[in-house]
Amino acid sequence: MLCVMHLPLSRDLFTLPRDLTWVMHCAEGPVPIRAADAAHAFLTKELAPWTLGVEEWLKIPQRARAEAARLLGAEASQVTLTHSTSAALTILAQTLALGPGDEVMVPRGEFPSNAWPWRALESRGVLFREVPLWPGHTSGAACLNSTPPPVDVDPELRLLEALRPETKLLAVSWVRFQDGLTLDLPRLYDGCRGRGVILAVDGIQGAGTLPIDLSVTDAFATGVHKGLLAPQGHGLLWTSDALRAAMHPMGSWMSVADADLGSRPYTDLQREWLTDGRRFEQGGQHGLGLSALTESLRVLNEATVTAIRAHTHELTQALLQALRRTPAFEAEAARLLELFARGRIHHLVGLHHHGRGSAFLNALLETARA
Ligand SMILES: Cc1ncc(COP(=O)(O)O)c(C=O)c1O
Repeated sequence: MLCVMHLPLSRDLFTLPRDLTWVMHCAEGPVPIRAADAAHAFLTKELAPWTLGVEEWLKIPQRARAEAARLLGAEASQVTLTHSTSAALTILAQTLALGPGDEVMVPRGEFPSNAWPWRALESRGVLFREVPLWPGHTSGAACLNSTPPPVDVDPELRLLEALRPETKLLAVSWVRFQDGLTLDLPRLYDGCRGRGVILAVDGIQGAGTLPIDLSVTDAFATGVHKGLLAPQGHGLLWTSDALRAAMHPMGSWMSVADADLGSRPYTDLQREWLTDGRRFEQGGQHGLGLSALTESLRVLNEATVTAIRAHTHELTQALLQALRRTPAFEAEAARLLELFARGRIHHLVGLHHHGRGSAFLNALLETARA
């Protein structure tokens, strides 16, 4: 029974009703009570702004970057606070020196946050190309007709074989939103580095749930409202020191030397751009949201992503095994169990309707809930 399992995150951290099973993790995770309390404490200070000095206000983003870095196994100086995954990828797209004839490649059917920032570069002559990851893989208007990933799916091979001399950047979801396929980042990074291609990762469906090794990416973007359990409206961009040095600044008054404490006149424009993640941040920070985000990240850091991953591993296995005992889904469960055994899927399970439509899947979920 799931209720007797050891939980890495106690139910008492949340306000989830006991009789509720929240299976929509791939859309939004629940915010811990502690995070809501932190937001409330911040707002209480805003009611009397003289209780919130500049120094205290500046510590809020610092704490958020530090907790994010701890979770991602990174340095705080490598973290840029953004307001979504899309904003993080847009920063990347807009600040890299990509020009006419350069190509950005993505797997077919990415969540649009990993398509539009690159499509926006088409007006500069940058090419955008989608690559199918298995035979029969379709997307767009035809996405419901797609075949599901077969058990021997090899997305890295497909992507690496599709790189061309003009490909300057490969942008992938770490964990794909429609099918849960988890890409082998070390293998992709190896293949990209050999060809001078930047590897950018949309990590929102894995962050906080799977441990990440950022040394096998050049850039990692995530929103915070799924596995990071924070309110919507924030995101994180991690960049390697080498890539960040090659990215143009975004041009905010908080992205230059000595901007923070006003130790020089604000109108003094003779300054260097910062070289850390603040280089791309957008002026004054969202203290309310960041107060909550910091506390959500603290909760996760206390629990550890390794323990969360072990727990979700058990849950996924239990779900798939139960599914195998459901006659209508025996074959689908066998496919998913094999992908799971091969480390191709983890906590995000994408059931394929096999021509039976979404109503069939909803009915299955209702049965499972009962
Ligand atoms: C893979 C992926 N990337 C990004 C997002 C969200 O993007 P944003 O944070 O820009 O709203 C989602 C889902 O909401 C997603 O599944």
